Amino acid sequence: MTMTRFDPARLFGLPMPIVQAPMAGVSTPALAAAMSNAGGLGSLGIGASTADQARAMIQETRALTDRPFNVNVFCHASAPRDVAREAAWLAHFAPLFAEFGAEAPTTLQEIYKSFLHDEEAHQVLLEECPAIVSFHFGLPTPAHLDAFRQAGMTTMATATNLAEAAAIEAAEIDVVVAQCPSDKGTRG
Ligand SMILES: Cc1cc2nc3c(=O)[nH]c(=O)nc-3n(C[C@H](O)[C@H](O)[C@H](O)COP(=O)(O)O)c2cc1C
Repeated sequence: MTMTRFDPARLFGLPMPIVQAPMAGVSTPALAAAMSNAGGLGSLGIGASTADQARAMIQETRALTDRPFNVNVFCHASAPRDVAREAAWLAHFAPLFAEFGAEAPTTLQEIYKSFLHDEEAHQVLLEECPAIVSFHFGLPTPAHLDAFRQAGMTTMATATNLAEAAAIEAAEIDVVVAQCPSDKGTRG
């Protein structure tokens, strides 16, 4: 049996076969641009950013490099709200906040808005059109995927198990990023 060795340099036309991991809240335009300028593939993680922040990050990266880079979004299922359950958690933690003299929150907020429900972020990606767009914690809708393809973007998605890899293949996404599940010691 012949094994084909995956070569991201060949796939993306890069001088160097290195992809910098997207890290929401951590990977900066300067880091992504430095990576792409060095011949690898720089990545921005916009999973923790608003649409406006994402646009600014993409434009800042583009000002620092004319090489391709990757923009990564979170496609998780949003948490269903359960007011009674949230109130119970808030009551549970109230004494701990009090112990440290801190003001306890009165409501719980979802910190990361899913790309699945973020039409503004979708528009930003279509308008800014990075060479590569990648998906984490799930897949975008088929309509979003079609729009990215038609705009000429290469697509990548993270799989943490065989079922996710099969779903990525079925969605005809260009690249599968095989990654350890979070309980194996890496985030994501
Ligand atoms: C602080 C931090 C933030 C991360 N954020 C993202 C993210 O936004 N999107 C993503 O696909 N992966 C994210 N990851 C996972 C990384 O992209 C990478 O796949 C993971 O760290 C495993 O690679 P490593 O073994 O080289 O660390 C994050 C990892 C870290 C440590």
